Amino acid sequence: MKATVKTCPITALLASALVCGALTWVVSPSHAAEPAAKNGFAADKGPSKVDVSSYAKDVQDNYAVFAGKCSKCHTLARPINTNLKPEEWKMYVKRMMNKPDSGISPDQGKRIYQFLRFWQEEKDKKTRQ
Ligand code: HEC
Repeated sequence: MKATVKTCPITALLASALVCGALTWVVSPSHAAEPAAKNGFAADKGPSKVDVSSYAKDVQDNYAVFAGKCSKCHTLARPINTNLKPEEWKMYVKRMMNKPDSGISPDQGKRIYQFLRFWQEEKDKKTRQ
């Protein structure tokens, strides 16, 4: 009699596996919907520096601020190999400045933005050739 009432251990296992599976399915889409991570990975694999030796002095100075500040939390390759419109770069620099402990002053943010616009134009020139 007892044996018929007992839950089969395999059935119990399958049931909990199903619950777990359902939970992961519910939880994972929020991770999958993080485009920044994917873009970031691709950009991270590109060149990690720009040779600014042939550019004007102010470009070189702005690059130095950029290289020092924008490599703190991720590779410098990430911004170097990301392509954005000028207004998008402005937004991104602000977004990065607003992150906790970014350590970027408004003046430095301006210089970084100037470099990123310059560098975007250089990249755009190459793709148009
Ligand atoms: C305080 C840490 C921190 C600093 C400093 C920082 N970043 Fe980021 N950055 C992040 C994090 C975290 C992410 C990924 C999440 C996100 O996009 O907000 C990221 C992502 C990015 C991305 C990829 C976004 C995408 O959607 O592909 C770019 C481009 C970028 N940062 C540029 C910069 C630039 C330019 C600077 C310098 C002004 C900078 N970051 C400085 C933390 C930082």
